[in-house]
Amino acid sequence: MVVDLNSRYGLNPAHSEVVEACKIIEPCDTLDMGCSNGRNAVHLGQLGFNVTAIDANPGAINMLQSIINEEKMDNIKAKVYDINNANFGEDYGFISCTVTLMFMDPTRVDDILADMQKRTLAGGYNLIVCAMSTEEHPCPVGFPFTLKTDQLREAYEGWELIKYNEDVGTMHNGAKLQFATILARKSS
Ligand SMILES: C[S@@+](CC[C@H](N)C(=O)[O-])C[C@H]1O[C@@H](n2cnc3c(N)ncnc32)[C@H](O)[C@@H]1O
Repeated sequence: MVVDLNSRYGLNPAHSEVVEACKIIEPCDTLDMGCSNGRNAVHLGQLGFNVTAIDANPGAINMLQSIINEEKMDNIKAKVYDINNANFGEDYGFISCTVTLMFMDPTRVDDILADMQKRTLAGGYNLIVCAMSTEEHPCPVGFPFTLKTDQLREAYEGWELIKYNEDVGTMHNGAKLQFATILARKSS
């Protein structure tokens, strides 16, 4: 039986959109943007993906590194990196960015998206989940960056949209929070 390392190390389960995406994406070189302490990276690593996990928080990267060391997971590399640099330097079959883009400097988001797209191999995938702020549902949280209606769909013009939605959820305090979710495939 495969041991669930997320449970073993007290990590939350992987983001549901990452779990779903892995049902159609074959293990490949993968970039996990804003990995925190590694709930998605560890899940991807267990499935055989070759993961580069980046985060600006050295404490989170140290915790992920200790899991990698303990489990001898040589298919995960954890690195402190500021995503606002928008210079990933390597190509990937899958780039995952769940609940991270809204923490970026708004003036860097176009460059970040452009670098993600440039660094995706032909036939590869981008997954993004990011908070929105619209007239109908102004974002109740003070994130540095939020998406507008259709902004992400338009940014991926020319890519195959496997999934796109702008769903509205309800927070614990009853406030509405809208998220855009995209899983897009670059043409081969
Ligand atoms: C809400 S967490 C999301 C974690 C993970 N992607 C997930 O799905 O659980 C956002 C992460 O983005 C990281 N982050 C914020 N600004 C960053 C930056 N400029 N560069 C890299 N990581 C950053 C934070 O340290 C945090 O771990």
